[in-house]
Amino acid sequence: MNLRPINANLNDYPPSVRPYLEGAKIFDSSCSPQAKVIFSDKDEGFFIKTSPKESLFLEYTMTNYFHSLGLAPQVLEYVSDSEDWLVTAKVNGNDCINQKYLENPKKLCDTTAHILRELHSIDFARCPIKNHTAIFLKTAEQSYKAGLCDKEMFEQLDLKNTADAWTLITAKSKLLKNEVLLHGDYCLPNIILDDWKLSGFIDVGNGGVGDRHVDIFWGIYTLFYNLRTHQYAKRFIDAYGKDLVDPEKLRLIATIEIFG
Ligand SMILES: Nc1ncnc2c1ncn2[C@@H]1O[C@H](COP(=O)(O)OP(=O)(O)O)[C@@H](O)[C@H]1O
Ligand SMILES: [Mg+2]
Repeated sequence: MNLRPINANLNDYPPSVRPYLEGAKIFDSSCSPQAKVIFSDKDEGFFIKTSPKESLFLEYTMTNYFHSLGLAPQVLEYVSDSEDWLVTAKVNGNDCINQKYLENPKKLCDTTAHILRELHSIDFARCPIKNHTAIFLKTAEQSYKAGLCDKEMFEQLDLKNTADAWTLITAKSKLLKNEVLLHGDYCLPNIILDDWKLSGFIDVGNGGVGDRHVDIFWGIYTLFYNLRTHQYAKRFIDAYGKDLVDPEKLRLIATIEIFG
């Protein structure tokens, strides 16, 4: 989390969100261009996410579900109007791109792999999203048909063109199961640790019951992305449990994520 002090205009926020900001110091905590995230230091601290209309409904639903499992912050407010706003309580600790975690990469790799294996062992009977695989494939299909593609991801795969990628996806997509509770965006900034112990997950709007290889792929990719080396991939798989990891499915997920 990179907190940068800013001045927030309360009138930009709906009336039910303003009490979380009034009289507080405000910081920008955004991590991606898709959403604006600010931190208010009032009381125990709040995070307020703003994103286009209806884009936060699933995050609201899944954060509530993860909170019921003790794995995510409480949602204090969700407003869908001209835009969407989500207010969550601050999770104690620091996300995994904090220097104290990045400077101990082996421990970070093992810790995030073990946490993921535990998440994937949870009883998902009450999860509101039971068909992550279908949603995941549909999103990819829409991007492919719209001609959208993540070039950086594409270049890491040995594929001639995007049509080739789509042929591989349609041939193999039946391999994917709805077998475990997924985080759905298992990246270091979305995992909050308190002195190396899981304190909570955030950004769970892409979660649901799906194929474990989605989270494993991102667990490996995020270590590569933040540490700029591929050297933790095998270690992550070993720490997760290599008996459960199928390299063919990991490659399939990498191919689908070209269109993610
Ligand atoms: N409830 C929370 N508790 C602690 N940190 C949070 C919370 N919500 C957001 N953050 C911090 O803000 C960052 C961005 O929030 P996030 O919801 O992941 O936005 P994005 O969708 O842009 O990745 C996170 O990486 C994390 O550091
Ligand atoms: Mg995030």
